[in-house]
Amino acid sequence: MPIGNKKSLQCTHAHDSKRLFAQSTVAGRPRIVFQSVADQPMMMETDIGRPVRQRVGAGKNRCSVIVRFSHRPDSCREFEYNENLSRFISKLPCLPLKGSAMSFSSADAQSLMEITARPPMYFVRGEGSWLTDDTGKRYLDCIQGWAVNCLGHCPPQLVKALNDQAATLINPSPAFFNEPSTALAKRLTDASCFDRVFFTNSGAEANEGVIKLARKWGQKNKGGAYKIITFNHSFHGRTLATMSASGKAGWDTKFAPQVEGFPKAELNDLASVKALIDDQTVAVMLEPVQGEGGVIPADMAFMKALRELTRENNMLLIVDEVQTGMGRCGELFAYQAYGIEPDIMSLGKGIGSGIPLAAMLAREEVACFEHGDQGGTYNGNPLITAGGVAVFDALTAPGFMESVRLRSEQLSQGLLALSEKWGMKGERGMGLLRALILDKDDGPAIVDAARDRGPEGMLLNAPRPNLLRFMTALNITEDEVKLMLAWLDEVIAKVRS
Ligand SMILES: Cc1ncc(COP(=O)(O)O)c(C=O)c1O
Repeated sequence: MPIGNKKSLQCTHAHDSKRLFAQSTVAGRPRIVFQSVADQPMMMETDIGRPVRQRVGAGKNRCSVIVRFSHRPDSCREFEYNENLSRFISKLPCLPLKGSAMSFSSADAQSLMEITARPPMYFVRGEGSWLTDDTGKRYLDCIQGWAVNCLGHCPPQLVKALNDQAATLINPSPAFFNEPSTALAKRLTDASCFDRVFFTNSGAEANEGVIKLARKWGQKNKGGAYKIITFNHSFHGRTLATMSASGKAGWDTKFAPQVEGFPKAELNDLASVKALIDDQTVAVMLEPVQGEGGVIPADMAFMKALRELTRENNMLLIVDEVQTGMGRCGELFAYQAYGIEPDIMSLGKGIGSGIPLAAMLAREEVACFEHGDQGGTYNGNPLITAGGVAVFDALTAPGFMESVRLRSEQLSQGLLALSEKWGMKGERGMGLLRALILDKDDGPAIVDAARDRGPEGMLLNAPRPNLLRFMTALNITEDEVKLMLAWLDEVIAKVRS
């Protein structure tokens, strides 16, 4: 079974009952040994310094090769020949060479709990809007950790803040004050309509706190009212209470029984909210833009009416800004774009720009926890909140939000032009949380083709088969947005040809 592109490789091949391999030289440079999948333990020696998959591709027979790269001498990678694409496709993350010091291996990956289908790639470096995988291929990242890395990958301010703080004080205990957490809380309350902050590690944990706080307020002020009206297609996290609060299809029966008390209304339909209010209702909770649900913004009129309605009924208005907050929607907090003041807000994702930081914020009269009601080992940890201070200061630096709005406009116009060109159904969103609405269900195929394009790829997300979601870094450049739109056009053409 010949493998290898004879134009670039001089191949000799041999076959015995157990093993298929070819030894090659590339212009007199060191050997490459290819090996079939069935024959596991054999290691090859190569030092071509570039991914072999770009050089091997003429073979017609199904076979796999394992290759070592000069820049990753401790590991190797398996490629499988794909008849349709006429080239070798990376099959697994890097495998460690026997006895190597590499900590990551396919065997290790199998030790991870299987919770999602991950593409066969493994990222080793990030800078700004770009990620690099272990073969050296670069990707323009339009996902950014699911709208998390608002300053892109490894922003220098964050790296410095973490390094400095790690060398100073990591964890005195949440039972004591520390300077970074008080500094960040002060910045957040100064910049918002809220008076008090509690830091958590994830958005779901912040929302758990929000739900507890609303129930506590109901116990103190509304005869034990505890129900929180949430919305169909909403997403609030993956803990039991936040799954129950979420309006994701199928989640009402998963892990049943649910936590009780989250009746679901329709976004942008005030009558559907009114119909659910009873004397046990303590609050309404919503995302200003439903992110996971498909980038669906709350209407301006609906949000204002909701504020009125909740006031009239002595209920709290809670905004889940885990995805929309920290500049994502063109204002520091998305509620500010609606000209309203909510009672409670949760933040996550962008507040740490990639480090595990989230928060719940409340107005003074609502912040009614008593000692023992709320806590957590890492709440307000100085290492993480020092990172949060650096992120906050970058987001609020003069001109930053203005540039987010400019890039948002550029992206929106570009997506609209693509929609018109390809007969799609338009685009929507706020700031740099946007979606292209496709006219057919080829979102996943576009995501795959964008990732596999060469020599550089692009990372996209399709939260629904007919929708692409864009969650770039907030500091993405004008040229990067242009490049992204050009590549998107190219990839759509390929998928639809
Ligand atoms: C609006 C919203 N709330 C809560 C969460 C949960 O955040 P985390 O994954 O940090 O727990 C998410 C995550 O996507 C979200 O988008």
